[in-house]
Amino acid sequence: MNYLYQRNFLRLLDFSNLELNYIIKLSKKLKKVKKNNKEIQLLKKKNIALIFEKESTRTRCSFEVAAFDQGAHVTYLGPGSTHLGTKESIEDTAKVLGLMYDGIEYRGHNHKTIEILAKYANVPVWNGLTKKFHPTQIIADLLTIREVLPEKEFFEIKCAYIGDSSNNIANTLLEAATILDIDLRLISPKKYWPEKEIFNICQEKAKKNKNHIICTDNLKKGLNSVDFIYTDVWVSMGEPENIWEERIKLLKKYQVNQNTINMTNNPNVKVLHCLPALHDKKNNLVKSILDKYNLKNGIEITDNIFQKYQNIIFKQAENRLHTIKAIIISSLIKIITL
Ligand code: CP
Ligand code: NVA
Repeated sequence: MNYLYQRNFLRLLDFSNLELNYIIKLSKKLKKVKKNNKEIQLLKKKNIALIFEKESTRTRCSFEVAAFDQGAHVTYLGPGSTHLGTKESIEDTAKVLGLMYDGIEYRGHNHKTIEILAKYANVPVWNGLTKKFHPTQIIADLLTIREVLPEKEFFEIKCAYIGDSSNNIANTLLEAATILDIDLRLISPKKYWPEKEIFNICQEKAKKNKNHIICTDNLKKGLNSVDFIYTDVWVSMGEPENIWEERIKLLKKYQVNQNTINMTNNPNVKVLHCLPALHDKKNNLVKSILDKYNLKNGIEITDNIFQKYQNIIFKQAENRLHTIKAIIISSLIKIITL
């Protein structure tokens, strides 16, 4: 029996340890059969709607390639191309799409929107990123963690997240750590700690096992002996441009660079980044910010550290495809035989 059948995928706290491990295991299998050219199409005749109210490279391509590999069809609904939330309510749009499609992916601003979509669509809805959560990303990161550190179970892993700990990546890591018993340290100035509501729910749940989730502004305390350092952009999609000044001022100390790596006291520490990463001057945004704030080398991560750990970081990106495929299949197919 597949307990994920017809379930939404909105946030990780909706799932058990067993269920998250099941998705990761299925992703591994799907990755293997694709690499061996032995993939069986389980999603023939399925139609999938992809709503993107924000830009995307990895998430959109992963949903599309996963669907094509599996024989499903997709409709891409880009920013401003539907009536959603303007001329038509989210509820009505959900009902219409639910009558035409077998599943709906949504990337947008407010998490409430995806909750309303899920409530009325009557088909599985998958979260491709909201301001609050990015669960398909973290599932890919968990698969990557498994692959690059196979000798450790999740409950043995220590991970530090540095940067804006109030964003969707930090919130979702927090939920993953809660369910899988990962030792997680969110390291940022207090101003950028997660919302109390999310942190308290997670801490309450985590306490039942061991107290393995902390927020700290102390780099040394947070980084000591970790297996992984995870970082993400300091300004997320949808945030105003003028927030950069404050973020640079408060987060400068929390850049992933050689100094932060040294503070782990772990010569085998590994670095994760969900991408896009602002690490070199090859894009105009980074160039203009570095010039404006008189910074030399990368924003949330320096270029030399990014280059050193790029194999792991691009593995995370590739794993988006295999894990998103697993998420779609497990919610649309009742009995999965690979
Ligand atoms: N990491 C991630 O979600 O990338 P995209 O914004 O390119 O989808
Ligand atoms: N926190 C980032 C994640 C991008 C994948 C954002 O929301 O823009």
